[in-house]
Amino acid sequence: MNKINIGDPLDRVDGRLKVTGQATYSGEYKMPGLTYGVLVPATITSGTITAMNIAAAQRSPGVLAVMTPFNAPKVPGYQPGAANPVKGLKLFNDQKIFFNGQPIALVVAETFEKATYAASLVKATYQAEPFETDFYRNFDQGVIPNGGKYKDYIRGHADAYKSAPVIIEQDYMLPSEIHNPMELHVTIAFWEGKDKVVLYTKTQGLMRSQTAIANAFQLDPANVRIHSRFVGGAFGSALRTWPHEVAAVQAAKMLQRPVKLTLTREQMFTLVGYRPLTIQKIGLGASPDGRLIGITHESHSQSAIYEEFSETAVAVSQFLYNTPNVNTRYKVVPLNVGVPAPMRGPGEATGSFALESALDELSYQLNMDPIELRLKNYTDADPQRNLPWSSKYLKECYQQGAERIGWDKRPTKPASLRDGEWLVGYGIGCGAFDSNRSRTQAKIKLLPDGTVNIRSAASDIGPGTATAMVLIAAATLGLSAGNIVFELGDSSFPLSPNQGGSRTVASVGSAVHAACIALKQKINSLSGLAVDSTAAIDYSTILQQHNLPLLELTQESDSTEEAKQYSSYSFSAQFAQVYVHPLTGQVKVKRMVAVVDAGKVVNYKTAASQLIGGAIGGIGMALMEEAVFDDRFGRYVNGNFADYHVPVNADIPDVEAILIDKPDLYINPIGAKGIGEISLIGVAAAIANAVYNATGKRIRSLPITPDKLI
Ligand code: MOS
Repeated sequence: MNKINIGDPLDRVDGRLKVTGQATYSGEYKMPGLTYGVLVPATITSGTITAMNIAAAQRSPGVLAVMTPFNAPKVPGYQPGAANPVKGLKLFNDQKIFFNGQPIALVVAETFEKATYAASLVKATYQAEPFETDFYRNFDQGVIPNGGKYKDYIRGHADAYKSAPVIIEQDYMLPSEIHNPMELHVTIAFWEGKDKVVLYTKTQGLMRSQTAIANAFQLDPANVRIHSRFVGGAFGSALRTWPHEVAAVQAAKMLQRPVKLTLTREQMFTLVGYRPLTIQKIGLGASPDGRLIGITHESHSQSAIYEEFSETAVAVSQFLYNTPNVNTRYKVVPLNVGVPAPMRGPGEATGSFALESALDELSYQLNMDPIELRLKNYTDADPQRNLPWSSKYLKECYQQGAERIGWDKRPTKPASLRDGEWLVGYGIGCGAFDSNRSRTQAKIKLLPDGTVNIRSAASDIGPGTATAMVLIAAATLGLSAGNIVFELGDSSFPLSPNQGGSRTVASVGSAVHAACIALKQKINSLSGLAVDSTAAIDYSTILQQHNLPLLELTQESDSTEEAKQYSSYSFSAQFAQVYVHPLTGQVKVKRMVAVVDAGKVVNYKTAASQLIGGAIGGIGMALMEEAVFDDRFGRYVNGNFADYHVPVNADIPDVEAILIDKPDLYINPIGAKGIGEISLIGVAAAIANAVYNATGKRIRSLPITPDKLI
């Protein structure tokens, strides 16, 4: 038996299925009678649909239905007085248009091509109204979001930075960015009788999708079955059930046939959220020896007029550095745009770009090394919550990253280091992200052949969830990985949280761990061993000896009271070496070193992949990604993959991933902190700071395109 330990690099258990095309994604399920839905977007940005002509579309070959706000069956959860009413856009419920691209019809046909053609025949007339999509013009309309979480924060004195001897006060801009996972958003829905529905859909939360569909159609959640076994990336865009998914379920009910609704790449820009355009003001005040006297962080970001979106953009400034005075403010500006959504490192990635850029600016003003400045303001306890950290190895991140990137070669004077024609610079950016853990259940089954099956309704958007769970189970049971199967992606499995907020290993992993311990104890007692014996056992023999067909049990795990005595975050220090061409302004990220304290590493191989993926996302954020609005029409001018740039292989350098790999003893039995979000947080600042080091040009608005450097 190959003994395996937590932390060993295990190949992805579903890797072969994925690379050979045998992994079935939501849109790939075949079933008799499948029909195809295509959405028709509104061409105005605000107003009312006064009439629609759908006759030509209805007559078009193969068309089965054209659903519009004028003929759509009512969704019960959209109606006033519904129990658990659906929040946000109530698609096809009335004729109001809130943003350009909002669907006005769903055409369903026998083939995708027939539906696409018929969709082009749908005509609408509108009563257009004035609209607001210009963030800058509406900046002063910003409001503090509902709910206490986002109210103004003050520790010590507000705006204390203003009276400090050394001051930085700057604005930083981050444009809207689109998640753009490889897999399009897709839903197949069909009804099994009057009150039972099944969906194959792209989701990061089986339970959340189940609840959303149950609420929309006022069904017993047990009668809503969600399948989402493989997800081709999401980055936060599949953390909720979107209105078009409800529409697919509605159409399937109307037709009494399965309906598959796939968004186009262009629709992915308008219908499934994005990281919102944000302007942040940072004020830093310091003593001449580099001690922070005050931090002020104010953030404004865009939101939708029909639904408020908020994120924790100013949170990092409240606790990342040790300073007596901090004040933060967060506002959102409602516009005629689609609603944003969490996007990898939601809030923190945005906030750390501003904070870590400002800190870099301060370091030059103080004539101090940026790492030394961070060390000078290092905090050994959480100054915001006034709690000890459950674990923090950020100093180790600084040190190991500096060593690997060759920080000693960083020029202290900007624009002073060259390699041939190219200017060379080094930068650092840091971040933190909450260690989350949610209530989770796992069911474990020991089969007669001694193999083990474990199930939980978790989601996997690509990080290797099943692989991590197999590893945890194998290590806990003392079995080889090949003897364990972990199944996820089905809402009929035991309760599991969203794959969001970097909580999967801490939550699902803890439940799997608990289930394995319980199974082992049961086997121990059957074998006459002490309950907590760690002796190797032959599982199948014990079943036979006791004449048992199988053993099955379910365990639940949740965060503990003890964990609440600590403040828990993952920490990152990202390092970049960039080359900038002085004539063309081209930026090449030459090397990146990503160093993350994410607690105990469960699978070094997939964890390192997360760090590399986050670095790539951060390179896109720093240098390429920008969804550009034309405010005359209220729509994107680059809402497609030809014009919206994401990094490709040629843009990606050697990324070295380093994990500190020290267990956090308080937050879960595995000792793992989250890794998904933290991998991105700090990267954009590291690159922007390296660009300054290379060129002496401080770019405070992303992306750093060549025009800004020449
Ligand atoms: Mo992450 S933005 O919680 O998918």
